[in-house]
Amino acid sequence: MTDQSPQIQIETINKAFDQEFERFAPFGGDVSALAALNLEQALAEQRAVSDLRTRYLGKKSALAATKKLIGRVAPEERASFGKQVQTVEDRLTTMVEQVELRLENHIQDARTARESIDVTLPGRRPRRGHRHPITLLRERLEDIFVSLGYAIEDGREIETDFYNFTALNIPENHPACGKADTFYTTDGFALRSQTSTVQIHAMQRRGVPVRMIAPGRVFRRDTPDPTHNPMFFQVEGLCVDRGITMAHLKGTVGELLRRMFGPDTVTRFRPSYFPFTEPSAEFDFSCFKCKGSGCRICKNSGWIELGGCGMVHPNVLRTVGVDPQEYSGFAFGFGIDRMCGLMYELDDIRLLFENDVRFLEKFE
Ligand code: DAH
Repeated sequence: MTDQSPQIQIETINKAFDQEFERFAPFGGDVSALAALNLEQALAEQRAVSDLRTRYLGKKSALAATKKLIGRVAPEERASFGKQVQTVEDRLTTMVEQVELRLENHIQDARTARESIDVTLPGRRPRRGHRHPITLLRERLEDIFVSLGYAIEDGREIETDFYNFTALNIPENHPACGKADTFYTTDGFALRSQTSTVQIHAMQRRGVPVRMIAPGRVFRRDTPDPTHNPMFFQVEGLCVDRGITMAHLKGTVGELLRRMFGPDTVTRFRPSYFPFTEPSAEFDFSCFKCKGSGCRICKNSGWIELGGCGMVHPNVLRTVGVDPQEYSGFAFGFGIDRMCGLMYELDDIRLLFENDVRFLEKFE
């Protein structure tokens, strides 16, 4: 190239540019060529034009090199050569700029179109969660007891042996104290194995008379199977006042079960033993499904066993500074998971804690 006269070099550049520019020329013309480009294609063309600009108009371009020759051409040709270089540079610049501008506008439009939203489209509905079946049941139980004048107590899940056993009149050699049944932390605290612990806290904190229920988690070293979980929920109830008798206990438990399972539900009490009550009983209710005639749920007995109860043991009252000569009370406790399993006829209560949304969604 350097052998050619500067004027011819300029012409060569001009022609080479035209050849390369040919494919971009339509973008400067009518809109159809641009309209055919999607956003990605337009961006690619933009990069190609930018590359063309660098090669023909950049600092290292052949055109830039010819500019340096202006000072070296014969003085009489200098003005016209200078003008020639300038004309070509202006022409190339104008052509490139026009295509750049059109491409840029097209890209902006394509971006806007892509980002615009159709406000007439129906919205995406967020999926609403709902409460766990155990929570639903706990709230029903709480409503019943609140309507009977009971307070809701919130106990603690980690206890000292005093609350878990001693204060409940459970002798130290009782099997429930052993490591085989109760989970212990490395510091020797027990994960409570029953909500009866809250009886003690409630009387210490509120004094007597007291009427409270305490729903909450309990823990036992059971191997999980269709009817056992090492963690489950219980509700504890406690009523202490002057003149409280077993009749109050039977009336309260009976009322609870009628409200849960229907007005014709019959409650039955069987003598039993619990260290923290004397006398103690277990309570059953007539099967809500077969009304006592026998079915799969009640294992053909007509009765469903639910929980334990009794008159608060004088030792328990004394431990919290209440005089058993003056006050008496009843207590009861039962499993929420068990009740839940019965009511919803679950073959396996482990389902309650598997977090399978397909299962949990069935309860509302
Ligand atoms: N805590 C007992 C259990 O987990 C249930 C129980 C029995 C609670 C008798 C009581 C009661 O309050 O008086 O098996």
